[in-house]
This record gives sequence, C-alpha cells and structure tokens, in this order.
Amino acid sequence: MPAPKILVVEDFESFRQFVVSTLQRGAKFRVTEASNGLEALQMVEEQQADLVLLDIGLPDLNGIELARRLQRLAVPPKVVFLSQESSPVVVREALSLGALGYVHKVRAGSDLLPAVEAVLGGKQFVSGGLQTGGWRLADGSARLLSRVPALSMGCCTRYCAAEAQFSTKLAERDLRRYHRRGATGITRVMLAELRTWPLEDGHLLDVGAGIGTVGAELADSGLAHATLIEASPSYLETARRVLKSRFAPHQTEFVLGDFVALADKVPKADVVTLDRVVCCYPDDKALLEAAAARARRLVALTYPRNRWYVRVMVAWQNFLRRLKSKDFRVFVHRQDRMCATLEAAGLSRAVRRETLVWTFDLYFRTKAGPVNSVLGCQN
Ligand SMILES: C[S@@+](CC[C@H](N)C(=O)[O-])C[C@H]1O[C@@H](n2cnc3c(N)ncnc32)[C@H](O)[C@@H]1O
Repeated sequence: MPAPKILVVEDFESFRQFVVSTLQRGAKFRVTEASNGLEALQMVEEQQADLVLLDIGLPDLNGIELARRLQRLAVPPKVVFLSQESSPVVVREALSLGALGYVHKVRAGSDLLPAVEAVLGGKQFVSGGLQTGGWRLADGSARLLSRVPALSMGCCTRYCAAEAQFSTKLAERDLRRYHRRGATGITRVMLAELRTWPLEDGHLLDVGAGIGTVGAELADSGLAHATLIEASPSYLETARRVLKSRFAPHQTEFVLGDFVALADKVPKADVVTLDRVVCCYPDDKALLEAAAARARRLVALTYPRNRWYVRVMVAWQNFLRRLKSKDFRVFVHRQDRMCATLEAAGLSRAVRRETLVWTFDLYFRTKAGPVNSVLGCQN
C-alpha cells in the first residue's frame, strides 16, 4: 500500500518546515506543502491528498473556508486543523465542517503525529485542554466539555448573513484599500476624536472589527490590550494579520462570533468601538446594550444618518440584495432610540460629528455613574 499523502497548509515558513520534518521523521508519509489557501485547493484538486493539515489564518483563502470547499470535492480528503486558535467557537466551527482533528499549535510537538495517525485510521483527535463549544466527538470524549453554548442563529453559530456578505474577497479588497489610503471617512473622524482621550494602558474592544483598522490605528496610543470580535471569519483572519505587527501576541484576542450572543464571554474594556456595525445588525438595542455593558469608560460608534437620501440609497442597495437572494441587509436605525439605549445603560453623549452620510457619536461613563446627558438625545 502506498504511503499516505499529506498536504501541509501553513503560511509561516519556519513552522511549516517544523511540521514537515516532524511528519517525515517516521518516513511513513508522502508530504507536500502549500503556503496559502488557494494554492492548497489547487494542489488537492490536481494531486489528491489523503489528509490535509490546515492552519486557519491563511492568505487568499482562510482555513475555515478552504475546509468548506474541500468537503465539496468528489473525494474529500480528511482534514486536521493545526491552529493557534483555541476559542471554543472556532474549534466547534472547524469540527462542524467535517474536520476529524484539531491540534493546538502549542501542542504540535506532542500531538501532531498521534492526531495524524488517529485521523488516517478514521478516528477523531482534539488536543487536550481545548473546548469544542458543544461539538460532540464520536467517542463522546468526556474531557471535552462545552463551555460556550451553541448560539441560536439558525443556520450557523454566527450572524450568518454578515458572514456571507463579508467574504474573503471583500476582506482582501478592504485590506488593499487600507494599505493604499489608511483609515478614511467617518473612521478617520472617530480615530481623531479617540486620540484626544487618554487611552494609555487601556483595553480596546472593537466590535465588528472588520479587517482591524481601528485596533491597528490606535495601537500607537499606548493601549495595553485589544479584543476584536467579528462575525466574519475572513475579516477576523485578515484583522489578525493586520494587528500582528502592531501588538505583541499576548496583547490581542480575536473572537469569532455574534457579539450579542457572546458578550458575556468577552472581557470588559475601557473603550468599546462599533465602526459602521450597528447598521449591519437588525437589533440595534440588543447590540448597544451589550456594548454598553462591556464598556468601562467610552463607547464610540458610527452609523448612517437618518436622512431621506441615505434611506433611499440603503433601500435601493437592499432591493438589489433581495433580487440576488442575499440575506444581508443594511439598517438605518433611529438615532434617538440608539441614544436612549445608551443613556439607559448609564452613558452620556459627549461628542457628535457628521459627514454627508455618516454620524459619529462618542459616549462616556463617569465614575459617579449616569449624569444628565451632556448633549441630549434630540440633537
Ligand atoms: C461594514 S463592516 C465594518 C467593519 C469595520 N468596523 C470597519 O469600519 O472597517 C461591519 C462588520 O461588522 C460585523 N458585524 C456586524 N454585526 C456583528 C455582530 N453582531 N457581531 C460581530 N460582528 C458583527 C460584520 O461581520 C462586518 O464585518
């Protein structure tokens, strides 16, 4: 019988070499390598593979999306994720895509070969210490208890419409734009205001972080920590790449999922930002209540102005989405309602800036608790 063929997909060259040499040590496997998702997909299509060892944060096509596409092949290879990601939501998502194994990178030295042997033998393997977010292994392993409940978003564990809308292609486009022009428009307005507030040693929570622009731009303000939460895996993986050069690894945390469902699991932060996010979510009240509950000092948000020409533009875009059977919609929520939600949570508005289409609001919490609104909800 020919030796099993294993494809190692990993963009970090030295770690890839470590994995390859570990696999080749027993000379039992034929090992090939790819450094990005698209290359890997092409290699599997052309040469077949018995098993694919897959990182999640990959250029071109992230590991989650690649695993999804591999499952659609006539003869799908077995998949083992090899990732530094330990969030139960991600482990659950990876296993729900048909992967039989999940190895945490920090345990690669001890777990890699046992995982590969187990999965090639038709068994499952998950590194000890990882939680599977409720995903049950076939052997019912008791060591893997669920800490994160399955989220009630219907078709998947996340805000599915946003996940489909904010694809790998869009993430790459946004990244190119950011490299070319930096932060623009209302984001730039928000960042300029935030830089006038003391952020040193603070904790940023960026909700709906997209490709990570806010975190990247505020990194030089002396933040001690940044948590990014994002519903789209493609955006989150791009954000991880963007923030890698700006923060030390222990200073950042990346959470995949719907913030409203996961808010209790996310640490409190000094500054919570929602840049162009409220308009992507149907329930503004739930989103802002969750944001306010995690904010120790500031909540900064940008959203479309409730003006007739904005509503017409948004209605037209939503109409086109409906024609194309896309579930994603943009919402122009009522400003007074959003303000009332944040004030009811003990925040007061300090700043409002507007462009033709967008509004930026900054809310703050005083040590003494809620104060009478500085600006009120009507203006
Ligand atoms: C228009 S993009 C803006 C991204 C980024 N904040 C920026 O301004 O470049 C909105 C993002 O919010 C995310 N999003 C919307 N609702 C969310 C939720 N409830 N939890 C997590 N992410 C959410 C979407 O996936 C999308 O990436």
